[in-house]
Amino acid sequence: MKRANFFAFFLPLISVGAGVFLTAAEDPHQKFKGDDAAMMRWRMGELCTEEGVYFTGSGNCVNCHAPDPEGEALVDETGHTVSPVTDWQATMMANSARDPFWQAKVAHEGLVNPDHRESIENVCTACHAPQGFHEAHLTGAAGPNGYTMEDLADDALGLDGVGCAACHTIDDINLAGRSNGDLPINSENVAWGGFENPWDGLMSGQTGFIPVYGEHMRNSEVCASCHSLYVHTQDLGGEETGQVYFEQTTYLEWVNSAFNAENVQCQGCHMPLVEGGAIAATQPNWLFPQRFGKHHLVGGNAFMLKLMRDNAVTLELSASPAQFDSTIARTERSLQNETAHLNAWQLPSQDGEWLFEVEIENAAGHKFPSGYPSRMAFLEFVLVSSSSGDTLFHSGKWSPEEGVFGRDEGYEPHWNEISSEEQVQVYETVFGDVSGTPTQLLERASVLLKDNRVAPRGFYSNHLAYDTVRFGPMAELDVDFNHYRNADGSVGEEGSGTDRLVYRIADASGATSVQASVRLHYIAVPARWVSGMFEYSDQSEAIATFESMFNASDRTPVLMKSTTVLGWMGYDGGSEQWRVAPNPVADDQLIRLIPPVGETAMAVWLTDSNGRVLREVAVNEAMNGHGISDLAAGVYFARIQLFDGGWQAVRWVKL
Ligand code: HEC
Ligand code: HEC
Ligand code: HEC
Ligand code: HEC
Ligand code: HEC
Repeated sequence: MKRANFFAFFLPLISVGAGVFLTAAEDPHQKFKGDDAAMMRWRMGELCTEEGVYFTGSGNCVNCHAPDPEGEALVDETGHTVSPVTDWQATMMANSARDPFWQAKVAHEGLVNPDHRESIENVCTACHAPQGFHEAHLTGAAGPNGYTMEDLADDALGLDGVGCAACHTIDDINLAGRSNGDLPINSENVAWGGFENPWDGLMSGQTGFIPVYGEHMRNSEVCASCHSLYVHTQDLGGEETGQVYFEQTTYLEWVNSAFNAENVQCQGCHMPLVEGGAIAATQPNWLFPQRFGKHHLVGGNAFMLKLMRDNAVTLELSASPAQFDSTIARTERSLQNETAHLNAWQLPSQDGEWLFEVEIENAAGHKFPSGYPSRMAFLEFVLVSSSSGDTLFHSGKWSPEEGVFGRDEGYEPHWNEISSEEQVQVYETVFGDVSGTPTQLLERASVLLKDNRVAPRGFYSNHLAYDTVRFGPMAELDVDFNHYRNADGSVGEEGSGTDRLVYRIADASGATSVQASVRLHYIAVPARWVSGMFEYSDQSEAIATFESMFNASDRTPVLMKSTTVLGWMGYDGGSEQWRVAPNPVADDQLIRLIPPVGETAMAVWLTDSNGRVLREVAVNEAMNGHGISDLAAGVYFARIQLFDGGWQAVRWVKL
């Protein structure tokens, strides 16, 4: 059946399915039994079933590794499916060869450098279409210019992306030292796996591939060769300069991190183990649970997953909208819960000025953001007057038309202190060509202009791998970047995985208390990164296609973390005491209750000097300003009930 017909026929069924079986929006393909599983498996019939010499299509794994109609194999302890086919099918890696951004970018690089187009394509396909690339090279089918986009266009094995066989046929030969998709592919059709003593009867008979335990499958090194990427720099005329530029170093960043030392491999976060294991195949029916790593394989790219979900028919993607939704939900959950911590607090300052410090701490196993150099995160900081509700300051405002407000032409510096709305903290890497001009052309990358992406915990500048993963010049000058802070406030040891910066805001509004809101956002594909490429859309269908999809998509950044802090004018830092300010207080002023760092009140009363209650004051109002013009001059107390049951009383004087 042709793709379009297949979909036309299938769509009504999907919507029924979505209503009846697939109700949980978070994990739409959670449980499969009976018809539900059968339908899922039928859909998977669209996956590649081509059989090569070294690789076989992912569709050939469906028979035994797709959801079990009996609901017994490939489920976790709660009955939710852990089928590697289901989980993998809607990931970026499964769709790496049909990814319209990738296809457009390959076209872009080739158009800029037409003499080298085919050799560039032969570089790009190594990781994005590994099965097609290696099959062609190993069998000698690749032409003198290697495996090109033209070869890929009608090669089902290549279009299968980073398929099951691409990872499972990687031999354990010097994996740590490899890069650029240089995979040692097994020549005897072994499919390495993560558990010991697999039963090989059915699988080798049906697929020609023998399941064998390979300890290396449990380690980061199996990911290294595709997650380390360098380019041979070309000058503006397209000639190689002899320089090597490290463009993606996710594996090496992990090597230089505490996670390496603590034995937390890539799989530990990206392929979490099923507790208690799972039965690894649906046939035969007498297997017992084994160690099982879930093929979630999500990173931060919710944006492209949504774009691909919305254009799945045009792009001929096999995964269902429900599968994409599930991968998107996992991605957003990972960005929001597993990627970074955000903290903010007020610092003492002089009158007429607000001072806040913000700290971001990376929780991922490599830099944040990592990977493809378009990725960026930025901080938004908004200061609002508690009394008038007016916005006094706003750095890092985002709009669909302008993107991140204040981001400089070229690139935004790394900031240690921000005092103007024109300044914004953007965590990103920026490279320049041989002339030092910022460029998005991968093949021209020559100078590191900026890299202030937050290091992983335990990242050191004296590490052997530092040269390939170094910070950019501005971050290297920021003395507390990636450094702990000592108790006395001085700069401590390296390796904190943090960045701290100060917002210093002059304020003539007379506001006595403010609320500072800080938000951390993530953008996988910034408009600015692709705008240069879109100038070539009249010369390439791939670029034009991606441009129209990009323009139709929702480009709102992913909100990862947010926090708010209150601030008081006259705050003088680390007091241990509850205080009232100003004290004494004039008739037309408001009094405010100032807690010691980290404490909050449960209830607040005003009493006279004898302790008689005059009134209860809402906590929020007590903190932000409460009028006392109705009280006579004299001595009063604020009586504070604490959450731990304790009491505090603060004496204050009305003039
Ligand atoms: C070493 C393997 C490797 C090679 C070679 C490679 N890439 Fe990639 N590419 C990756 C990985 C891994 C990612 C995803 C990283 C991430 O998500 O941050 C990626 C991501 C991308 C993306 C972003 C895709 C998206 O959906 O956001 C584009 C565009 C891209 N690559 C283009 C290219 C081009 C053009 C070439 C050839 C010049 C190339 N790649 C060569 C590994 C490779
Ligand atoms: C006819 C059924 C069948 C098909 C088709 C099949 N497998 Fe398997 N697979 C099995 C069985 C059975 C096991 C062993 C389960 C056990 O011992 O508990 C297995 C185990 C595995 C393992 C684990 C090995 C280990 O030691 O950890 C991997 C990896 C694997 N298969 C990959 C694949 C891939 C890739 C494909 C598609 C090319 C595929 N399988 C197709 C039946 C199948
Ligand atoms: C990005 C690489 C990658 C891709 C793509 C991939 N796998 Fe795996 N797979 C792994 C790794 C790594 C493990 C071992 C995880 C562990 O045990 O820690 C694994 C484990 C397995 C296992 C055994 C369970 C275990 O934890 O040992 C099976 C079965 C399996 N994969 C099947 C598949 C099938 C079928 C596909 C395609 C739908 C697929 N894999 C795609 C990397 C991959
Ligand atoms: C401690 C957990 C952890 C470990 C270990 C880890 N990662 Fe990640 N990874 C994450 C989180 C969380 C994200 C999402 C945030 C992000 O996009 O940077 C992520 C994102 C990614 C991305 C997408 C990056 C981007 O922003 O586009 C890639 C690619 C990736 N990881 C690959 C790897 C590889 C390869 C390894 C092993 C060398 C690894 N990860 C180890 C947690 C981890
Ligand atoms: C054969 C090459 C290859 C291997 C091996 C490989 N990857 Fe990837 N990986 C890619 C490519 C290519 C992409 C980018 C696809 C795209 O964006 O179009 C990618 C993207 C990713 C992403 C980003 C997903 C997102 O949504 O942002 C993560 C996470 C990731 N890989 C983790 C891993 C882990 C963990 C391993 C090892 C178990 C691994 N990869 C092994 C090629 C590979």
